[in-house]
This record gives sequence, C-alpha cells and structure tokens, in this order.
Amino acid sequence: MLESMQDWKRTHYSGTLRAEHAGETVVVTGWVDTRRDHGGLIFVDLRDRTGIVQVVFSPDTAPEAFIKAEAVRSEYVLAVTGTVQRRPEETENENIATGQVEIICTELRVLNNAQTPPFYIEDGIDVDENLRLRHRYLDLRRPEMQENMKLRHRGTKVIRDFLDSQGFWEIETPMLTRSTPEGARDYLVPSRVNDGKFYALPQSPQLFKQLLMVSGMDRYFQIARCFRDEDLRADRQPEFTQVDLEMSFVEVDDILELMEKMMQRMFKETIGMEVERPFPRFSYHEAMERFGSDKPDIRFGLELVDISDLAEDCGFKVFNAAVNSGGVVKGINAPGCSIFTRKEIDDLTKFAAIYKAKGLAYLVITEDGVKSPIAKFFTEREMDTILTRFQAKPGDIIFFVADRHQVAYDTLGALRLHLAERLDLIPTDKYQFLWVLDFPLVAYDDEGKRWEAMHHPFTSPRDEDIPLLDSDPAKARAKAYDMVLNGVEVGGGSIRIHRGDVQEKMFTVIGLDQEQAREKFGFMLDAFEYGAPPHGGIAFGLDRLLMLLAKRKTIRDVIPFPKTQSATDLMVSAPDTVEPEQLRELHIKTIVKSKKG
Ligand code: AMO
Ligand code: AMP
Repeated sequence: MLESMQDWKRTHYSGTLRAEHAGETVVVTGWVDTRRDHGGLIFVDLRDRTGIVQVVFSPDTAPEAFIKAEAVRSEYVLAVTGTVQRRPEETENENIATGQVEIICTELRVLNNAQTPPFYIEDGIDVDENLRLRHRYLDLRRPEMQENMKLRHRGTKVIRDFLDSQGFWEIETPMLTRSTPEGARDYLVPSRVNDGKFYALPQSPQLFKQLLMVSGMDRYFQIARCFRDEDLRADRQPEFTQVDLEMSFVEVDDILELMEKMMQRMFKETIGMEVERPFPRFSYHEAMERFGSDKPDIRFGLELVDISDLAEDCGFKVFNAAVNSGGVVKGINAPGCSIFTRKEIDDLTKFAAIYKAKGLAYLVITEDGVKSPIAKFFTEREMDTILTRFQAKPGDIIFFVADRHQVAYDTLGALRLHLAERLDLIPTDKYQFLWVLDFPLVAYDDEGKRWEAMHHPFTSPRDEDIPLLDSDPAKARAKAYDMVLNGVEVGGGSIRIHRGDVQEKMFTVIGLDQEQAREKFGFMLDAFEYGAPPHGGIAFGLDRLLMLLAKRKTIRDVIPFPKTQSATDLMVSAPDTVEPEQLRELHIKTIVKSKKG
C-alpha cells in the first residue's frame, strides 16, 4: 500500500549523516539502492542525490516497518524515520561517507514502488548507451551522472558570478532569428504567418552580441544555447551551450587575461584545482609545425620534425617531388616502436590514408643500423642528420609524410595522438591550457574554389596585415584566438572589425559583393554606420569544459538530455513526423524518400 508524505518532513539528506548525528531522530527520503535480508534483520541502502545511508529494520524495534520492508524492492521510494546510531567499529564502511552510522528505522512509509530498471543504478555500468539514453531519467539517477549535473550547476554559477563581478551584464538574444555565419548548416523553423519563410535557430549569438556593443552595453555575456546541424562526434552536439561574451574598447590581451582568470576561478571552485597563468601561447603556425594541430595536446612530446631541406635533393623521388612542388617532408619519431610488425605498419599506413596521405615512409632504427626499404636512397651523411634531428635511438621507428602542408599536418597530427594513446604517454591527471593565436584570416576552400573566413567574416585582421587583404589574403593573420585544454578546443573568439572600409574589403576577399553582403548582413552594416566601438569577444563550449572537468570522454555525459550521433532524442523520440494539418498550416510539403531507395 502506498502512503503519503502528509505530516512528514524530511530533516536530512541521506548522504549527509555523520557520526556527530548519533542519537538524533531523523527523517530521510530516497530510493532503495539495495536491500539485504539477513534473516532477523533487513538492511536497506537508501539513496538520494547526496549519497547513500544504511537503514536497519528490526522486528523488535519496529515490527510494522519490518513487515513493510520485506516487500520493498530496488528503486522503491521511501520515507524513513529513525534514530541515527554509530555502527559497531567492525561494521563501518569506509567506501561511503555515511559509513560510520546507520539509521535504526522506527517508522517506514512506502511512497511509491518501481519496476525493475533496465540497468543497474550505479556507477561504471557497461550497457549500451542507447539504452541509457532511452531511459535517461534513470541514467541521471546514477551517482556519477548526478555528480555531473551538480558540476554543471556549480560551473555555470561560478562563471555567472565571476562575470558579474567583472561588470558583465547577462542579456538574452533571440532563438528565432536568421542564419549566423558560423559555417555549419542551420536548423530552420517555418513561419506560419509568413508564408514560405523560415527562421533559423542561432548557431551562436554572434551578430546580436556585436549589435549589443553598438548599443553601448560594453560588457555582455550569456549562457547561450546554440544549434548547428553538423556531423556529430564525441565533443559535438546539434544543440549545445556556449558561455558567450563580448567586450568593448579592448584588445586581444585584455580578453585573454580575463578569460584565464575565469578558468582559474572555475577550476578552483569546482574541482579545487589551482590553474597557473599566464597560459602558454602558440601561433597557429607554430602549433601546426610542431604538433600538426591547431588544438595541440602538449602534455606529451612526439613533436613533428621537418626534413624538407634535406629531402629537397635526396635520392628518394617521393620526398624531393613533394618539396619541389611546394609541399613538405615531416616526420615523427615513435620511440620503442621498432617492434611493430609489418602488418602494424601497414595498418598505420591505412590510418594515414584517412588523412589523404599517399603513403607512410619509415625507418626502423636497430642496434645494427637502419632497416627500411627507403634507406638506400640516403647517403650516410643524410641519414646521420635525419637520426640526429629526430633524436632517434635503437628501438625507434621514424614515420614520414611527404605531401602538401595540410596533409602532412593532418596525418602526423593524428598519428601523434594515436601513438601517444597506444604508448600510454598521455598524463591523464594533468590539465594543460594554452592559447592558439594569429590564425590565418582566411582559408581556401578547395571545393567551393574560394576564400572563406577561417573564424567568421567579422574577425579583424591584424592591423599590419590589412594591406595584405588586397595583395595576398592567404598571408593575412587574424586577431583570433582559441583556448585549448588537453587537445580540445574549448573556446574561440576574436577582435572584430569595427570599420566599414575594412569590413567591405573582407567581404570582397571572401567573394561577397556589396549587394550580397547587404542582403545577408545589411542590418549589421547599417548598425556599424552609427558609431561601432572597437570590440571583441569569445565563446566557450560549456559542455566541453564540463566534460574535461568531469573527466568524461563525451559531452553527452554532462548534458542532461543529449542527442545520439544521428541527432535523435531516443527518450522523447525526436525528430518525428507531424500531422498533415500542422504542415498545411506551415505551408510545407514534404517529400520523403522511401527507405529502400
Ligand atoms: P565557435 O564556432 O568557435 O565560435 O564556437 C565556440 C565554442 O563552442 C564550442 N562548440 C561546440 N560544442 C559542442 N557541440 C558543438 N557542435 C560545438 N560547436 C562549437 C567549442 C567552440 O570553441 N561566435 C563565435 C565565438 C566568438 O567569435 O565570440 C563562435 O561561435 O568549444
Ligand atoms: P613506393 O616508392 O611507392 O614503393 O613507396 C616507398 C615507401 O614510401 C612506402 O613505405 C610508402 O608508404 C612511402 N610513401 C609513398 N608516398 C609517400 C608520401 N607521399 N609520403 C610518405 N611516404 C610515402
């Protein structure tokens, strides 16, 4: 029989009871974590969001409660009145915070019963993630998930308090808006009252926050939901949260300094960790040259080494062809990997091919010299130089990629991470922040055959590089910056263009003529005619930061109700079809291809 909470009031959370509560009468509520029947006594571990406490039911102390406890099963919802008692020393449980005490139940109310859950409500379960997602409300009942939600709350609150203390105002911007230039596909929302027209959900509040600077808000922030229809990965969701901010009358250093302080505060007040600042800074060029990545993980070595100068006139055609056609030859020394079998090397070659590398040349260093199909192409002197440059010793393998710069970076950057994981070289307990600066302003899009803004088209070039917009846009560097933590891009931003003439040049470079620019961003250009202050900002992926703080492998674990890799919500079953009438109202006709094609 189910009972009510009338006349009852919880006095304590289960997980908060300690030895000093001994002797007190308490009322706790929660879910049955486990129930053990020890003949004469029944033990129930009662769980709420603070933890677990052991409750003892005895037929002598409370016969009525004992009988009810016999019928109780996992995940039943209980309210327990009882006396806190110090446990006999030999039965203390060091594994739980309440392990020195137990509650001797005097009265039990069964508030609800429960079906057997489809998986155990405990940490570290090994079940299909889809099952967890379908029953997310149960998954979120697991202690580690509750910790993640608590961390999310704490982290967000610390950021809010910090930004408030620095004079930022929290301002909301619309969800129903028009496309923002962040580069992904938009989620569109049809307008019922504007036949055939669509809103876009914001990919970020970028345009609005810049307009707020024109409005004189000076310092804005928002914990903003963003929507991007892109291919999903462990650290990408279609709907995610940014800590988004913008400041007027600042330069790059002001923003970097403030954001480092925000990270210090966040880490200190969530996981109690001291973060050192200033964070190391890398130019985009240096990051790519040394780590093959614009979000390098520098917690371990395995740096890329360049031998293009040697390769230029060596006897190996593949190498000199790459250099002579404007590319590079770069490599990486895999320490102690000379034991790799032929098959393992072939597999790495296939891995390299994913990044468009045409091959993966290698030198195996042994006590009796270098073994490799390509060794014959190098003079003794060249070989010595190579070995010195890579600091190679017997037992190592050096892998080379000879290709266009981007292919060499991508392949070796990925190989570096792959090897580090395989060789267990990543100190996972360490947090390593850094900044990447001086990104190129534009990047060439091979498919579209045109220049594209690398960050977004409102990003300012460095002052000294403005003339390059006319002469050599590829060389222009942006006042853009990314914050990277342990090889994850956690945030990115820039100083914006606030001058009309520079903005116009930028549009020209990316192939937008005046008319197109007006059509897309006319409101923005208009606003900028009315005294736009110099301004800049940044946005952090809150989910990514929390994922790293919580030491999880995917942002899904820190998002209460995330979507799957195929952008579906398995619990509510979204997206879904809608009634024909709804579509008619929205002036929409759908053409659905049959699944069989
Ligand atoms: P950007 O596009 O770099 O910049 O995004 C900022 C940060 O948001 C996070 N992020 C994501 N997190 C989860 N899922 C996604 N799909 C996803 N996409 C991005 C990343 C990223 O660093 N308006 C600019 C910021 C600015 O210039 O101020 C912007 O949105 O951690
Ligand atoms: P080949 O001359 O094609 O037999 O290649 C000899 C070795 O060079 C093989 O190990 C190939 O994987 C490697 N190789 C071929 N092309 C490249 C390239 N572009 N960069 C690095 N290694 C390559």
